[in-house]
Amino acid sequence: MSFQLSSEQEMIRLMARDFARNELEPNAHQWDQKEIFPLETVKKLGALGLFGMMVPQEYGGAGAGAVSYSLALQEIAYSCASTAVTMSVTNLSCDPLLKFGNEEQKEKYLKPLAEGRYLGAFAITEPAAGSDPGSITTRAEDKGDYYLVNGSKIFITNGGFADVIILIVRTGQKKSNHSLSGFLLEKGAPGFTIGRTEDKMGLRASNTVELLFEDCRILKKNLLGKEGTGFKIAMAALDSGRIGIASQSLGIARACLDEAIQYAKNRRQFGRPINSFQAIQWMIADSATEIEAAYHLTLHAADMKDQELPFTKEASMAKLFASEMANRVAYKTLQIHGGYGYMKEYKIERLYRDARVTSIYEGTSEVQRIVVAREVM
Ligand code: CAA
Repeated sequence: MSFQLSSEQEMIRLMARDFARNELEPNAHQWDQKEIFPLETVKKLGALGLFGMMVPQEYGGAGAGAVSYSLALQEIAYSCASTAVTMSVTNLSCDPLLKFGNEEQKEKYLKPLAEGRYLGAFAITEPAAGSDPGSITTRAEDKGDYYLVNGSKIFITNGGFADVIILIVRTGQKKSNHSLSGFLLEKGAPGFTIGRTEDKMGLRASNTVELLFEDCRILKKNLLGKEGTGFKIAMAALDSGRIGIASQSLGIARACLDEAIQYAKNRRQFGRPINSFQAIQWMIADSATEIEAAYHLTLHAADMKDQELPFTKEASMAKLFASEMANRVAYKTLQIHGGYGYMKEYKIERLYRDARVTSIYEGTSEVQRIVVAREVM
């Protein structure tokens, strides 16, 4: 992999940075405090081509690849980590459609997603099936022309606003990874309702809801891939998704580092700026070094994906390291701020909360270690 970005990649990064600093940065604090999902701004993001970045142009996407996607997402997350997860999950929902959808499904769902006209979601998690999707209990029963779905999903990002949702449920009788299937669920499908909206610690300007199914009808033509392949569809999508969360973590960490540098320059104690103390310098140096390491791990995974090489291990390594790194950097930045950092008027208070979930969702750090250990052993 070349460490030099192409002029197209640089251009995409600058375009995303420009959007983030002008449209997100001035509003992120207020959206977080008031728990506002910024639908109008999210639509602008879609119109810029940031929803289907890895989708080929023939299906309405930008065809820009995973490296460009990561760069753009880092910039969006720098200014608003909530908007970054909204963008990341919509890109994630394009992936299974691209890989497993038939032409009709691509035309109907992938195109509007990639063109930014639709918002997407990915529904796998259930109250008793988080790290272990093999224990999903929401069931789809084959009724001939359609399936009848009963059960529920929780913690679904974008769920309340999504036009189409990649839904993973059980179709077979046996409790096994091979009896899960993927479906394309449309907003407003009969028997499908949105349940409660979660009151979260961070990412408060992202939408996280429960999905409820009571004899919900999904037409057979909305089965994604073959019956019984839902687990593999989900795992493949999560491989890409993990590059997204690593990128989000990087954006949060960079924002933290800039806050730390700025604060340490201006804050005076013992008659001098605190950035003159070695204790502070070391925290800043360690943070900068870890960010650099996470950046290269993440772009390496993205580059492998762009080259169509297997990247499961690389994506898990990037997600594991970058998310834990973001938490360490947020911790140090808050420490540098002292008591002020604990107050809501300082940006680090939000960044610290936003960083926390990155080592939990789209596979906990413990799950990433399982994936990496299996691959390297
Ligand atoms: N790509 C394709 N296929 C894969 C795969 C991958 N990355 N990983 C596994 N598979 C296949 C395996 O080859 C295997 O196939 P066969 O049975 O045909 O041989 C099958 O899937 C089962 O694999 P495992 O035996 O490895 O499955 P497991 O039950 O041991 O699970 C696990 C492994 C890694 C722990 C997995 O369950 C996992 O990743 N869990 C975490 C789930 C997760 O990330 N949830 C997050 C929810 S989404 C979210 O957070 C979104 C959001 O809103 C932000």
